[in-house]
Amino acid sequence: MEKPRILILYFSGTGNTYFVSKFIQANLSGGNCDKADLFSIEDISGCDIAKYDFVILGFPIYGCEAPDILNEFIKGIKLVSLKKGFVFCTKAMYSGNAARNLIRRLRNIGFMILGYDEIVMPGSDGITFLNKNSSYMKKLSAKDFFRTKGLHEMVKKIQLLINSYRQAKEIRVAFNPVRFLMTSLFKIFIPITNRMKKKFYADDNCFQCGICIRICPQKNIIATNRKINFDNKCILCMRCINYCPNESIQIGGFTEGKARWKGPYDIYYSEVLLKK
Ligand SMILES: Cc1cc2nc3c(=O)[nH]c(=O)nc-3n(C[C@H](O)[C@H](O)[C@H](O)COP(=O)(O)O)c2cc1C
Ligand code: SF4
Ligand code: SF4
Repeated sequence: MEKPRILILYFSGTGNTYFVSKFIQANLSGGNCDKADLFSIEDISGCDIAKYDFVILGFPIYGCEAPDILNEFIKGIKLVSLKKGFVFCTKAMYSGNAARNLIRRLRNIGFMILGYDEIVMPGSDGITFLNKNSSYMKKLSAKDFFRTKGLHEMVKKIQLLINSYRQAKEIRVAFNPVRFLMTSLFKIFIPITNRMKKKFYADDNCFQCGICIRICPQKNIIATNRKINFDNKCILCMRCINYCPNESIQIGGFTEGKARWKGPYDIYYSEVLLKK
């Protein structure tokens, strides 16, 4: 029987979801399937989703939901015919109803999601407010991310589903009132995060390298009169503030001299962002 063709699609703001996606790609190869193709949803030129038998979709949790950029991407996918897939998220703590909502959206365009998992990774929302020498940052620099809890088990789970994907049944994530309530509670923070988006600026150390302009997934950063300005399309992915080579991007008065996070082992910049 022909080996199934596997696609891993991901969105990653700061590199955590990219790391997990790469880990899945590296560890799935062999056995019952060929090496999976890996694409960011920011650039799927040359990627024909229809030709794959099994699609793995990874994303970070933002405010107990999938990021808007992913929801927009899904809206743009042409209806697929009963395509099998697996969904995973990376999160700092709590994912609310993200899985249930996303799986329903995917079902509406013809995906049959066979499994779902969550991996706890460093919180990209909080790191730029922490001291560089805080115990949390020290722990991160000593951490072996290849031994992240649940990572190997998730790959095994995906491998099993791929081995039996023709017969495997779609999962249904049941309505969970506690998750529903918690997700609604998180919505209280929306005005705060909206205010945060307006507080981004480049300080006097900016040397106009243009990297932030290139890597912003929303094309939200523009240079006018040799000054970096932020528009109003920010999705708070935290990429620009973490990857500015001079740590010149700030959020209000809270982030100057504070920590920055470039995903596990800094691979996201050299392997993906640099090529943008
Ligand atoms: C704006 C924003 C909101 C977030 N909201 C949540 C959340 O509700 N629950 C959670 O567990 N993690 C939350 N996080 C943390 C990210 O989901 C987590 O750090 C993820 O691994 C980041 O992945 P990335 O590096 O691929 O962007 C949030 C991060 C950001 C930037
Ligand atoms: S990445 Fe930093 S230094 Fe480069 S243009 Fe943007 S703000 Fe300035
Ligand atoms: S402005 Fe920065 S935080 Fe906002 S979407 Fe662009 S890269 Fe992400």
